Amino acid sequence: MTEPVTAATEQTSATPQAVVRMDGLRKSFDGRLVLDDVHLAVDRGSIVSIIGQSGGGKSTLMRCVNLLERPDRGRVEVSGEVVHDGGRMVSRDLPRLRRTVGMVFQRFHLFPHLTAVENVVLAQRTAGVPEQEALGRAVALLRRVGVAHRGLAYPEQLSGGEQQRVAIARALALRPDVLLFDEPTSSLDPEATREVLSVMRELAADGMTMLLVTHELPFAREVSDHVVFLDRGRIVEEGHPDDVLGNPAQARTQEFLATYGSTS
Ligand SMILES: Nc1ncnc2c1ncn2[C@@H]1O[C@H](COP(=O)(O)OP(=O)(O)OP(=O)(O)O)[C@@H](O)[C@H]1O
Ligand SMILES: [Mg+2]
Repeated sequence: MTEPVTAATEQTSATPQAVVRMDGLRKSFDGRLVLDDVHLAVDRGSIVSIIGQSGGGKSTLMRCVNLLERPDRGRVEVSGEVVHDGGRMVSRDLPRLRRTVGMVFQRFHLFPHLTAVENVVLAQRTAGVPEQEALGRAVALLRRVGVAHRGLAYPEQLSGGEQQRVAIARALALRPDVLLFDEPTSSLDPEATREVLSVMRELAADGMTMLLVTHELPFAREVSDHVVFLDRGRIVEEGHPDDVLGNPAQARTQEFLATYGSTS
């Protein structure tokens, strides 16, 4: 593995610096509050997992990081730069913001008319990476996620697990400061889930900063530095994974775990 995928592995700063910081985030849809005073920080090199029931606001929260969703109130900081404050866009350079934030979705979102390699090259081309370099990086990243042999295949010729690994390679291509994963394995079968989790585990071991939403609670417990239980738009409980997932203090968290399965 020679490809330097993340600035995080190159940084040796002793004081952790938040790559993502959200303060007092609020968001409503049609007058209905879906994020209610959410505070969240993801330090460089750390892994934060968000868990919670369907409709609780997890995807909305993730989407607020790169302003795919604009919060109504609160402050969003990415890589030390305030990008949104008090309902106002501060950074107007959305393309640059999105280059620092890699995103992996539940449903892959690969371009169907492009091969795996071309999917990984395209993002770089848009960002101005020279063609040869983009191609080299794409091949190295596909190798890294274990699908280099499928580089010339189109998405519909790939299994779900392969498509998601291509999507991860694409998200890594611009060497983002942080990777966001929104339920990356929930449309996959158990074997493909294992493959994707194994890639994510390697990224974690390499020091990638990650914010993820997952229902894979044993995985969240294993890799996370911090777990956040988001319920109806509010953070009900957060802390060390062994506490939140193994010995939760709040009745709501206990109820949730009883439904979604305990990890101990
Ligand atoms: N663009 C939108 N317009 C209107 N309502 C929305 C929009 N996006 C999300 N919502 C609503 O906001 C609430 C939170 O949605 P969100 O997708 O953030 O939940 P979630 O925790 O990610 O759920 P899931 O686990 O099912 O993915 C839901 O009630 C949803 O219907
Ligand atoms: Mg969601």
